[in-house]
Amino acid sequence: MNVLVTGGAGYIGSQTVHALRAGGHRVVVLDTMEFGQRAAIADTQLVVGNVADTVLVERVLRDERLDAVIHFAAYKAPGESMEQPERYFANNVSGTLGLLTGMLKANVKRLVFSSSCAVYGTPSQLPVSEQNALHPESPYGETKLMVEEMLKWFDVCHGLRSVALRYFNAAGAALDGSNGEDWTYTLNLIPLVMKAALGKGPAIKVFGTDYPTPDGTAVRDYIHVLDLADAHIKALEYLEREQTSNIFNLGTGTGSSVKQVVDLTKQVSGIDFPVEYAPRRPGDPIAVWADNTKVRTVLGWQPKYNLHEIIDSAWRWHSTHPEGFGK
Ligand SMILES: NC(=O)c1ccc[n+]([C@@H]2O[C@H](COP(=O)([O-])OP(=O)(O)OC[C@H]3O[C@@H](n4cnc5c(N)ncnc54)[C@H](O)[C@@H]3O)[C@@H](O)[C@H]2O)c1
Repeated sequence: MNVLVTGGAGYIGSQTVHALRAGGHRVVVLDTMEFGQRAAIADTQLVVGNVADTVLVERVLRDERLDAVIHFAAYKAPGESMEQPERYFANNVSGTLGLLTGMLKANVKRLVFSSSCAVYGTPSQLPVSEQNALHPESPYGETKLMVEEMLKWFDVCHGLRSVALRYFNAAGAALDGSNGEDWTYTLNLIPLVMKAALGKGPAIKVFGTDYPTPDGTAVRDYIHVLDLADAHIKALEYLEREQTSNIFNLGTGTGSSVKQVVDLTKQVSGIDFPVEYAPRRPGDPIAVWADNTKVRTVLGWQPKYNLHEIIDSAWRWHSTHPEGFGK
């Protein structure tokens, strides 16, 4: 397939670009490069621009004869979205509307969308299935839900078929440590633990040690970025085969605690870095993990990597690239 990957120079996008190319697909990346890294996509064709630019999107799709889009481009920090909701609605929602309009003009009607488990907010039930109540607790989560709603209507009104993948906690790096998440741009636990282990950041703070979980710390579903990449390719194949829209949870189905992440990082790195224990943070759910039955059954996807492989690959990346690709 010939695929436009928006946000393809970012963390998850760049891993997906490599997986697509390894699978024989032709890829063009569209990225503002606000957070993207040229080095992360090697010699992949790159158009520097904004998904909101409908004219650009139409031109690239037509000129490059592309037949599907994978849409990663967005801002992604729930905390920041509470301070600057206008930036999130503008970039994530209006930006996507520009992209969809460009796709219609170019008559490209297949899209895979990066949604998030943030659409569920604090889960009403565990494990979290696609039927769980949807109540985002940040403007970021709301933007993901709003785009899902837009996609529903673009299907009904224009026949634009889409798959929305609701990722749980993306983590890990290329297995050889050559490509990973830049901790300058993220507030995710694993990069922050690595930063603390390497003495490049403050001591890691564990918020809440008295939760009703096996070791008292909060539980999340960490999914390897390579497993995410694989799911995007399966979603494209599904769209080509079934010509129908769908929504899937994308998690491993296994919860891991903050303490497990910290202990495994100590084990993998061989560094006994200091850890601070702090009270619970208001608004942090106790536990979140996915019911991934649907994505396993319908897309035939299954996770290949466990928490140890996530930490191991992340360590390989961070310890060899403490400044990311930057320096
Ligand atoms: N990282 C996670 O744990 C996680 C979890 C759930 C969902 N997601 C979603 O997955 C997607 C990718 O996340 P990531 O971690 O790779 O983020 P990232 O910030 O590393 O990558 C996003 C890329 O999009 C680009 N971009 C942003 N706005 C753009 C625009 N308007 N036009 C063109 N390019 C633009 C940025 O420059 C960046 O390269 C996002 O939509 C994010 O919300 C991420």
